[in-house]
Amino acid sequence: MTLKDFLKPDKQANLEVFSVSPRLIPVNKSINFNLYINSSAREGVDRFVCIWKAGKAIQENDVSEIAKKFGHIYIAENQRNHFFKDLGDNKNLATKEKVEILKNAALDHLDQLFHNTDDMIQSESIKKCLVECEAAAIGLMESIRNYDLFGLHDLIAELDFHDHYTLDHSINTGLYNMMLFREINPNATNEQLKIAGLSGMFHDIGKIKLPNSIINATQDLEPEEYIKIKQHPIWGRDLLQQEGIKFQRNHLNIIKNVVYEHHENYDGSGYPNGLKAEEINIFARMTSISDFFDAITTKRSYHTPLEPLDALGVIENTCGIKVDPYLFERFKRKILKDEKLDSALYLPKDFDPCCPHTALDLMYEDEIQKSELNENDQEDVIHYHWAKKTQLPKIS
Ligand SMILES: [Fe+2]
Ligand SMILES: [Fe+2]
Repeated sequence: MTLKDFLKPDKQANLEVFSVSPRLIPVNKSINFNLYINSSAREGVDRFVCIWKAGKAIQENDVSEIAKKFGHIYIAENQRNHFFKDLGDNKNLATKEKVEILKNAALDHLDQLFHNTDDMIQSESIKKCLVECEAAAIGLMESIRNYDLFGLHDLIAELDFHDHYTLDHSINTGLYNMMLFREINPNATNEQLKIAGLSGMFHDIGKIKLPNSIINATQDLEPEEYIKIKQHPIWGRDLLQQEGIKFQRNHLNIIKNVVYEHHENYDGSGYPNGLKAEEINIFARMTSISDFFDAITTKRSYHTPLEPLDALGVIENTCGIKVDPYLFERFKRKILKDEKLDSALYLPKDFDPCCPHTALDLMYEDEIQKSELNENDQEDVIHYHWAKKTQLPKIS
């Protein structure tokens, strides 16, 4: 096929576009987005022309011919979702490369929100960020479709780190959420998976209001700093319920619930409202597992991460206390089959995955037994051991 055979170009005025590397366009199959070139020869003047229509298969030599002749290839902003979905689905690219591109797309927008020095975070930039992260979540969902927890953990460890821990952690939590949701519910729809991903990406959005000295603290926090950190679910909820954030209402409501409830604990000991069990939104209950897992398995400069299996053991020991035992059990059974965890490793009951820690304050079961001698700790010990006796709620 030569360029003459291409569809007659459509002229589009005022089109918002982004340029894309030719090698990211899936070949030998029909693509779900239009391709544009800039036909203007005048400096500072753009005239985007559609040169390939969605729904038509494109071959490798077509792409290289277009790239050779016109230099840059563009895609319309309003088709970014389709491009990211096709990118995630592109079998010719390595998963690491795809995830890196999609992660960076979401990170750029989250980064802009976190670096907005205005006191008022404009609802327009939050909406833009939601839309951008939604597109990235669609591509990421396709990219990691066949990954289990261990594969995903290895993939995340291979990706480049952003120097802002909270942003990296937010994307990771979104990735784990999508995988977890699919493992727990194999019939999950793409919409549900997308919301799970977005919820993870936005769960700590309220930290925008925290000073960097707290977000990046390299030593244990002072009590008044911890009080501030505990405000982030409320701040995040308030940011998302500002007037003028136009996003699908149901989706936005779930994300808002996750932001507000991801620090609630299954036994009612969490914050801000001490909600219990099924009072906590199911997406928030899942996000707290993903949040916890990422916080203790990801390398931060000042603490050594746990291996995935140890991390699962630690989380299992908080079943019925912090995390939903039903969700965790179902998730664990899917990836570990009959393998028993029964870990002797514990974290203190008040461990907060969203707080910076100088070290993971791990304890072994026998250390807890020793502390049984101390009457003051008696209640804590009962709490730890109760976890293992918790009955799973019956959910069909
Ligand atoms: Fe948080
Ligand atoms: Fe978090």
